[in-house]
Amino acid sequence: MVVGGGGREHAIAWKLRQSPRLGELFVAPGNAGTAAIAANLDVKAGDIDGLVAAAREHRVELVVVGPEEPLARGLADRLEAEGIAVFGPRQAGARIEASKAWARELVARYGIPHPTFAVFDSRTDARDYVQSLREPPVVKADGLAGGKGAFVCESKEEALEVIDRLMVEEALGPAGRTVVVEEKLAGREVSAHAFTDGRTVVPMPFACDYKRALDGDRGPNTGGMGAYSPALWLDEPTERFVHQQITEATVRALAAEGIDYRGVLYPGLMVTEQGPLVLEFNCRFGDPETQVLLPRLKSDLLEIAWAVANGRLHEVAVEWSTDACVGVVIASGGYPDEYRTGYPIYGLGAVEEDVLVFHAGTALGDDGTVVTAGGRVLTVVALAPTLTEARAKAYRAVQHIHFTRAHYRRDIAAPAQDAKVQ
Ligand code: AMP
Ligand code: GLY
Repeated sequence: MVVGGGGREHAIAWKLRQSPRLGELFVAPGNAGTAAIAANLDVKAGDIDGLVAAAREHRVELVVVGPEEPLARGLADRLEAEGIAVFGPRQAGARIEASKAWARELVARYGIPHPTFAVFDSRTDARDYVQSLREPPVVKADGLAGGKGAFVCESKEEALEVIDRLMVEEALGPAGRTVVVEEKLAGREVSAHAFTDGRTVVPMPFACDYKRALDGDRGPNTGGMGAYSPALWLDEPTERFVHQQITEATVRALAAEGIDYRGVLYPGLMVTEQGPLVLEFNCRFGDPETQVLLPRLKSDLLEIAWAVANGRLHEVAVEWSTDACVGVVIASGGYPDEYRTGYPIYGLGAVEEDVLVFHAGTALGDDGTVVTAGGRVLTVVALAPTLTEARAKAYRAVQHIHFTRAHYRRDIAAPAQDAKVQ
C-alpha cells in the first residue's frame, strides 16, 4: 500500500507495479493516474487510524509512505505495532524533518556541515540575535509547514517581522512557536536522496528541483515545478563528500542517538564555495524529484523497499541507468495561490509511448474523463541519453496536453539558466 496522492506516489506505484514480486497494490488515497495501475482506497494520507484500519482490512504486507506528515505523526510506529512492514521512518526518525531545531542541533553535535544557526523559543531573544547579526538571516519555523516555513530575508527588518508573524501572530500555528535563525547561504541547491535501513546507506543519483512558480526562478514558492537528474555540474569529489560526510554521517548520528531509521533520507543541500552544507532534511522522497529518480532506477523498488523495511538493505543491489531524466510539472493557473479545478484534461493519450505522465491533482469525472483536482496536476517525464534530449522530449509531450488555464515553466533543465544544468 502506497500512502499519498501526488505525483511522487504515482511514480512510486508505477515502479512497484513493475516488480514480479508484487501481489496486490493499493494507493491511499491516490489519484486518477494510480487508479489505472492500482486500487485506490478512499482514505486520506492524514487519517492515521483509517490507514492502519485499511492496511489491516486488506492484509497489506508492506506500506510505502509518500508524505512526511503521517510519518511525523507516528504512522510507521502504528503499522509496525500491527506487524506490518513499513518503508518510512518511525516518529523518532521523522523528527529530522518535523523539527528543524532538533535537526540543526543534531548536525551541530555530530559535526555535519551546516550554516551558523541559533534556536529560539523567546521572541525577544530571537530579535536580539537578529539585531546582533551583520547580514540578514534566514528565519525558519521549527515545525512542519508544508514547505512554507522558511523565510529568506532581504533585510534585518524583514527578519524581525517574520519573527513576530511566527511567534506573536502564530501565522503557522504551533509550528512557529520555536524558530531557527540561520546564516543565509549562497550557492546551488541539490537534493541528495538515499535509501537506508539504519545501517546500510545506498545513495541515489543527485536531482535538482525548481521551487518557484515562474520562469527564471521568479514568483512564489511552490511544492516544485519540475526537476532533473543527474546534476552534471557536481564533481565527483563533492558527490563523495556528500555521501560520506553528510548522508552517511547523518544516518550514523541517528543510530548513535538510538534511532533506527528506515526509508529515504533526503538532505537538501546548498553547494557553496566552502563546499556543501545541509539546508534541511526530509524523511521521505522529494516531489517532483521522485518522478525523475525512479525512472532511472533499474532495480526492483519493491525488493529495495522490503529490504529497507526489514533491515536487510545490504543484501540487494541497487542499479541506476546512466540516462538523464527531466520532469515538467503542469499546474492549475493561479497555483500556489487561488486556482479552480474540475477542468477536463485533453491529450493524455497523445504523448509518445515512452514518455511518462505522473498524475498529482487529478480525479476521474462521472463519465470517466480525467479532470483537474489540485494545484499541481501532472508531471510529464522523459528519459534520454542526455539532458538536452530528455528535456526536448518532455516539452514535446507537454505540448500535447491541454486543460483550461494550465501553467508550466518553460525553463526546466534549460542550460541557459545560469549554467544550472550543465
Ligand atoms: P527549507 O524548508 O529549510 O528547505 O528551506 C526552503 C528553501 O529556502 C530552500 O530550498 C532554500 O532555497 C532556502 N533556504 C533555506 N535555508 C537557507 C539558507 N540557510 N540560506 C539560503 N537559502 C536557504
Ligand atoms: N522537492 C522538495 C521536497 O519534496 O521537499
